[in-house]
Amino acid sequence: MSTSSPGKTELPFYCPVGGEVDLFERCYSQRLPLMLKGPTGCGKTRFVEHMAARLGKPLITVPCHDDTSAADLLGRWLVKGGDTVWQDGPVTRAVREGAILYLDEIAEARPDVVVAIHPLTDHRRHLFVDRRGEELTATDGFMLVVSFNPGYQRGWKELKPSTRQRFVAASFDYPAPDLEASILANETDCDEKVALRLVKLGNKLRELDELGLAERASTRLLVDAAHLITSGMPPRSACIAAIVEPLSDDPEILEALGEVVSLAF
Ligand SMILES: Nc1ncnc2c1ncn2[C@@H]1O[C@H](COP(=O)(O)OP(=O)(O)O)[C@@H](O)[C@H]1O
Ligand SMILES: [Mg+2]
Repeated sequence: MSTSSPGKTELPFYCPVGGEVDLFERCYSQRLPLMLKGPTGCGKTRFVEHMAARLGKPLITVPCHDDTSAADLLGRWLVKGGDTVWQDGPVTRAVREGAILYLDEIAEARPDVVVAIHPLTDHRRHLFVDRRGEELTATDGFMLVVSFNPGYQRGWKELKPSTRQRFVAASFDYPAPDLEASILANETDCDEKVALRLVKLGNKLRELDELGLAERASTRLLVDAAHLITSGMPPRSACIAAIVEPLSDDPEILEALGEVVSLAF
């Protein structure tokens, strides 16, 4: 879990792709929960960080995984020096403080988490902290944002329609080539030529559907490769380490991806 507070620092860099900034602002002002759908590494988290800073709001981010239970999120009783003290979990804290709460990869969490946050998506914006017998109403300014990777046909978990329908939703995908190249150049100071080549390579790799990769080459991987290249690493090795190796462990697939890299650099 991480928390960021608004300060006078610069906004986290985010390059808008469509109408997402406007949509987020409207959801915030209308107190509507928002779901960001899209593959790994396409900018969802960065977008939320950017929007929280832009709106001057504290942001509480919770990466969800198989073990994430409602108790982790709502809070628990702890024994401290003979006393039992209550400790708020991140969801409870966000609700009390009126923060932006970002549940990253919500579908990965246990079903009881999803049940626990349902009342927060109602217009009353309630949270029932059952272990404490406390019912909270979200402080004005609270906003719930979740992310979800809809690659379910490749082994990702699905979200129930009854949960999905509680959110306003927006689809994210890897940015168009020009935009993605300017993101790489901005994130890493790599030169424009390198950025364009990496983006071209990324798109070539994304087309290789027949390899049955669980995920496509993300913007994040291209950013990592650009970092290695700007540090002076030979481009081919940088691309193998930052893009190819993270995508697969299968020797044949690695070889096929490596060939695409050697055509690009
Ligand atoms: N639209 C964008 N503007 C700025 N950076 C972006 C954008 N999309 C992707 N990135 C870059 O890609 C990286 C991964 O994005 P991230 O937000 O962590 O992805 P996700 O949360 O979708 O998995 C970011 O750290 C950033 O460098
Ligand atoms: Mg993320």
